[in-house]
Amino acid sequence: MKKNKKMIFIIAVCFVAVAAIAAFIFVQIKDQTYFHSPPYAPVPDKESAALVVYYSRSGNTEAMAREVARKFNADIVKIEALKYSLDFQGWRNAGSDADDKVTTVQITPETVDMEKYQLVFIGSPIWWYRPAPPLWTFVAKNDFTEKKVVLFNTFNSKFKSEEIELFRKEIEKKGGRLIDHIFVRRGRVYYQKSGEELIEESREIAEAKMKEWIDAK
Ligand SMILES: Cc1cc2nc3c(=O)[nH]c(=O)nc-3n(C[C@H](O)[C@H](O)[C@H](O)COP(=O)(O)O)c2cc1C
Repeated sequence: MKKNKKMIFIIAVCFVAVAAIAAFIFVQIKDQTYFHSPPYAPVPDKESAALVVYYSRSGNTEAMAREVARKFNADIVKIEALKYSLDFQGWRNAGSDADDKVTTVQITPETVDMEKYQLVFIGSPIWWYRPAPPLWTFVAKNDFTEKKVVLFNTFNSKFKSEEIELFRKEIEKKGGRLIDHIFVRRGRVYYQKSGEELIEESREIAEAKMKEWIDAK
């Protein structure tokens, strides 16, 4: 009887261990898969007063950025941060940097000339409840004087409004004004929105809010 109990215990422990390893592998595979959304380039000779700047490690925020840009025929700039490559090391770096102390990481480009734009969209994924470090770095290194700024994020389940408030203050320090925060919640890893749903939702948000952003003083 005692032997049987021990056996059941060992089987249960093995089962939990296998489930945990499988879950870890599943998350890693999902996390290292880039979502390639339909490409975007502004129509030439059709000036727009909007600019979209984004950081995206695995393509989801890029999909949102492209939909917002499409609505405005906006110029678009992708921020690269080599430290957060799509592999396991990049994921570890992202995890360890994404606390509230790290706000500067090497990014390319570091600066963007925003002189001719009135409306600037800046976006990133949420890491540990706040915009990812490359976006804080971008704000720290650029001049937002008199810009209306819309922050956009994608994430799985949760961000903290306190962190968005801190982000707002950083934009204000650089002379800009955060007029809105938009986002797509994709859902937890085991039950997530498809890429098409993410695109559709981004499109709907941009459509619904376009006039409000243009009219904002
Ligand atoms: C290091 C790290 C931390 C994350 N932290 C959060 C989090 O705090 N809340 C959340 O809902 N999702 C979190 N996520 C999930 C991402 O926000 C989500 O997958 C996002 O859509 C990825 O965007 P991207 O494909 O543009 O990189 C985290 C992902 C990583 C890699």
